[in-house]
Amino acid sequence: MTKGCKEFNTSFILQAPIHLDKNHPIAIEPSTLYNRTRGNTFTEQEKRKQATMATEHPSNKTDYFIDAESATETARLIDQDHFLTEAMGGLFSERSDIATMHFILDLGCGPGGWVRDVAFTYPQIEVTGIDISDAMMAYARSFAKVQGLNNAFFEVMDISKPLDFPDNSFDLVNARLIAFLTQEKWAQLLQECMRITRPGGVIRLTECEAITTSPATEMLFTKFTSAMRKVGQSFSPVRPLLGSTLVLSRFLRAAGYTNVQHVAHVVDFSVNTEAYNPFRHVTYALFAGMEPFLVGVGETTHEEMQQLLQQMQLEVLQDDFCALMYLLTAWGEKPQGT
Ligand SMILES: C[S@@+](CC[C@H](N)C(=O)[O-])C[C@H]1O[C@@H](n2cnc3c(N)ncnc32)[C@H](O)[C@@H]1O
Repeated sequence: MTKGCKEFNTSFILQAPIHLDKNHPIAIEPSTLYNRTRGNTFTEQEKRKQATMATEHPSNKTDYFIDAESATETARLIDQDHFLTEAMGGLFSERSDIATMHFILDLGCGPGGWVRDVAFTYPQIEVTGIDISDAMMAYARSFAKVQGLNNAFFEVMDISKPLDFPDNSFDLVNARLIAFLTQEKWAQLLQECMRITRPGGVIRLTECEAITTSPATEMLFTKFTSAMRKVGQSFSPVRPLLGSTLVLSRFLRAAGYTNVQHVAHVVDFSVNTEAYNPFRHVTYALFAGMEPFLVGVGETTHEEMQQLLQQMQLEVLQDDFCALMYLLTAWGEKPQGT
């Protein structure tokens, strides 16, 4: 089930133009992300390609709204992982039974930060991460090797398809920020998780929403959630929200999990907080990376995105900038005797 994979090449990130931020100069020009020069307009051929991307990603493998093979996305998720796990109070802040677990799976694990942290902290646990991205799995494997982790494993796998694991394989299945699934695909995935989790085992899901005082950032979030609604990946009918936190518990119950519970965490990204600088870079890369998706579904244009991204960067530098990210973790158990 392991596929061949490319070597992860960080030189792409290091070559990106740098601007605006005196303290943390890693903002990447959107023009670099799409190999464009500022001010150019899209050709008809490029526009058609972008429209196709709304449902058919450049990697041609997933409905994810960013190119999962891009080095920029790998770098963004590495940065994001650093503050998310901490903000959530640790790896499994709601659980006290981890020592009794032996096999854990992380769905859509990205560059594998959570998997490697679990493997490092609990050497007795065998932890596997799966993701659609060859590049991220290659990065995760080589980092785990450098760390000397022989209990962390990574596989390229599509979580919207049947999972390549035997029945009752895992004590716990985790997934954080996989809200690029339609309702139908969520239902299918949760059935698959039910099959591969042992009776009494746990499925644990974390999703998020964010709010800020920056008009440009809010406009970008509004365009993002509206685009997600258009492709059936938002569960909030009107307000500019992804709405996935709203439906997690219902999805778990509908799939047959019992003892469904949830806990919320909030991260403050406002100016002068510890998470402020990482948040700025992660948010910039998030919106820049999703430009082809937003343009493809007709939410915006390249020119408008350039303007909003510039405006966002200026607004988040203001002394009164405030931002919060709210995360909800919901979990349930596979009934005994199933
Ligand atoms: C927002 S990131 C979250 C990464 C990680 N769970 C975390 O919290 O840091 C979503 C991840 O899902 C992966 N992904 C997208 N579509 C997928 C699919 N169909 N199957 C498996 N992984 C997928 C992407 O490559 C990306 O790494």
